Amino acid sequence: MSRLYKSSLLFGGFSLSAGLAFGQEASASGVTADEVLNVILFAIVALALVALLLVILLFILVQNNQKEREVAKIAELKAQGKEIPKMGPAILSWAWFKDILTDNVALEDEDSIDLGHEYDGIRELDNNLPPWWKYGFYLTIVYALVYWFVWHEPSKEMYEEEMEIAAVAKAKYQEQQANSTDENTVVMLTDGVSLAAGKEVFEMLCAACHRVDGGGSIGPNLADDYWLHGGDIKDVFRTIKYGVEGKQMIAWEDQMSAKEMAEVSSYIMTFAGTNPPDPKEPEGELYTPAGSSQPAVDSVQATAGL
Ligand code: HEC
Repeated sequence: MSRLYKSSLLFGGFSLSAGLAFGQEASASGVTADEVLNVILFAIVALALVALLLVILLFILVQNNQKEREVAKIAELKAQGKEIPKMGPAILSWAWFKDILTDNVALEDEDSIDLGHEYDGIRELDNNLPPWWKYGFYLTIVYALVYWFVWHEPSKEMYEEEMEIAAVAKAKYQEQQANSTDENTVVMLTDGVSLAAGKEVFEMLCAACHRVDGGGSIGPNLADDYWLHGGDIKDVFRTIKYGVEGKQMIAWEDQMSAKEMAEVSSYIMTFAGTNPPDPKEPEGELYTPAGSSQPAVDSVQATAGL
C-alpha cells in the first residue's frame, strides 16, 4: 500500500512542479498569460487524475480488506459448525460496483429473462437498462428543466439587452460615419429618411434664395443642368460647405453637420429633370455626368478605393 501511495504522491508532485516550472519559464520568455494559464490548468487536471487514481486504490484496498475479513468470518463460522449466511453485495465491493454499472442477470439465470425470440441462435433477453445509463438519462431530464429556467429563459432577455446595446452602438457608429463625410467621400444618399431630412433643411435654410422647388430666385436654378460650381454631388457638397466668396451663398459648414450637408446635397440632386415652372434662366456651364451619373461616381470611388 505505502509503496503505491508514495509513488502516486511522487507522480502528483512531479507533474505539479513540472507544470509550475514550465509556467515560470513561459512568463520569463514573454509567453502570453493565456499559455501560462493553460499550463496551470494542465497541472490541475493532472492532479485531479492522480487524486482519482488514489480513490480507486483506496477502493481496492477497502475491498481487499473486506474480503479478507469475510473469508476469516466464514472460516470461523465453519469451524463452529454454524450455517453460513448468504451475503448481499456490500457497498464498496466490486459486486456493488458491477450492479451499478450493468444490473445484469447472472449468466446461469438467463433463462428467466429469455423473451423466447431467437434469430440465428441469437436470443433476446429482457435485461434491465444499465442503471448508470438510466439514472443518467433521468438526470438529463431534470437538468433540462433546470437549464430551461435558469439559463435559457434569462438568456433571451440577455440577448435582447445585447441587441439593444448593439443597436445604440450601431446608430452612434453610423452617425459618426455620416459626419466624417467630406467633399471627397460624399455619395448620393437615396434612402427616404435621408432625402426627407435634406428636404426639411432645404426648405428651412435654402428655399428663400433657391425656391422651394429649386427653380431659383436670388440663388441660381438648381433644377436645370447648368451649374456655376459643378453639378456632381461632390461639387454641390463643396459649394454648400464652403460657400461662394463675395456672393450671398455663405459657407454652411458652421451651421450644419456633414451628415446634414450630405442630405441636403442629395436632396438637391433630386431636382434634376423636375422642370419647375417659371425657372430662373440657366447660369454656368452645362454639366453632363460622365456616362450615366451614378455608375460614374461609383467607378471613381471604386478606383479610389483600390
Ligand atoms: C441668401 C441667399 C441664399 C441662401 C439662403 C442659399 N443660397 Fe445657395 N446660392 C446663392 C447664390 C447667390 C448662389 C450663386 C453663387 C454664385 O454666383 O457663384 C448660390 C449657389 C448655390 C449652389 C451652387 C449652384 C451652382 O450653380 O453651382 C448650391 C448647390 C447652393 N447654392 C445650395 C444652397 C443650399 C443647400 C442652401 C441652404 C443650406 C443655400 N444654397 C442657401 C444664394 C443663397
